[in-house]
Amino acid sequence: MDAIGTARVPDHPTVQAALSLARRAPSVHNTQPWRMSFDGHRLQLYGDTYRRLSSADPQGRQLIISCGALLDHIRTAFAAAGWATEVTRLPDTASDHLAEIEFAPARDVSDRIRAHAAAIDRRYTDRLPMLPPRDWERVEPALRAVATAHEVTVDVLEASARLRLAAASAQSAALREYDPQYLNELHWWAGNDSPADGVPISALVSAAELAQVGVGRAFPTAPPSLRRGELTDASRLLVIGSAADSPGHWLRSGEALSSLLLECTAAGLTTCPLTHITEVPVSRRAIAALLPKHAVPQVVVRVGTAPTTAAAPPTPRRPVGDFLDLHRAG
Ligand SMILES: Cc1cc2nc3c(=O)[nH]c(=O)nc-3n(C[C@H](O)[C@H](O)[C@H](O)COP(=O)(O)O)c2cc1C
Repeated sequence: MDAIGTARVPDHPTVQAALSLARRAPSVHNTQPWRMSFDGHRLQLYGDTYRRLSSADPQGRQLIISCGALLDHIRTAFAAAGWATEVTRLPDTASDHLAEIEFAPARDVSDRIRAHAAAIDRRYTDRLPMLPPRDWERVEPALRAVATAHEVTVDVLEASARLRLAAASAQSAALREYDPQYLNELHWWAGNDSPADGVPISALVSAAELAQVGVGRAFPTAPPSLRRGELTDASRLLVIGSAADSPGHWLRSGEALSSLLLECTAAGLTTCPLTHITEVPVSRRAIAALLPKHAVPQVVVRVGTAPTTAAAPPTPRRPVGDFLDLHRAG
């Protein structure tokens, strides 16, 4: 405690509560590929390579992007609880250690942080067709600010680029259609209703719904249905890109992804990250060719408006005790 009786570090219940909120972060196939430890002062974040997708993500690029998304969720959850965070990224490049987080009491909580924290539980991956994003003129500058803050680029594709992106998406699906390792991995993680991880059937779309969107990943299909059947997807397509393709760039891209998704959710919009097109070199190059300036495409995001507010049930998450090691300092 300091002179005015304020704790200088968050106590264990505060850490548990913040991580319980932060674990809602999106991750590739809901693998939640992270581990953490808290010694009473600092929180350490590690990638969990046992949860890496060895076929879809051999380099661990999406694993680190997912951990970056968690890192931004962690900072948001602590900030909303009155704790400023200082992050050292990649403190040991020879290991899976991705970030060290230190805490200091915050003077105040900004409206933006409050809005992002409140959006964490409302955000979900919406794989159905969308209406155009409402109030786009107001939202777009905020997304540009996200890009600047996280040292990435966020490009909004022209409507005419959609067909080329759909072609790249079809190309990546065709190249994997007979790849047993990719398909086994996809079916392991998606469509099984596992209690703590993976993509449940309730979050997936039917073949007809996937066709209406045109750029979605071909997950195992949900039973036949045609939700939002009256819509042709009118989402905006955004590309998060980085200057180069290293773990540091992946971590920053994940932080930017989280911030962008929360900004959109806070603005009442619905979102869907897409990475299947970035997993295959030829389709990744096709996205790069759509960008106005050089950038390495990391994640494509569909942003739109959902015609109803009824969301799918929340996807599962691992209990905090599953990934957090709590031990006392010294
Ligand atoms: C790095 C990354 C890649 C993702 N790739 C895809 C994708 O290609 N297609 C898709 O529909 N969802 C994708 N997602 C969304 C995840 O599947 C989703 O976050 C996860 O299943 C948890 O569900 P929720 O976002 O609804 O909480 C991706 C998320 C991340 C962070």
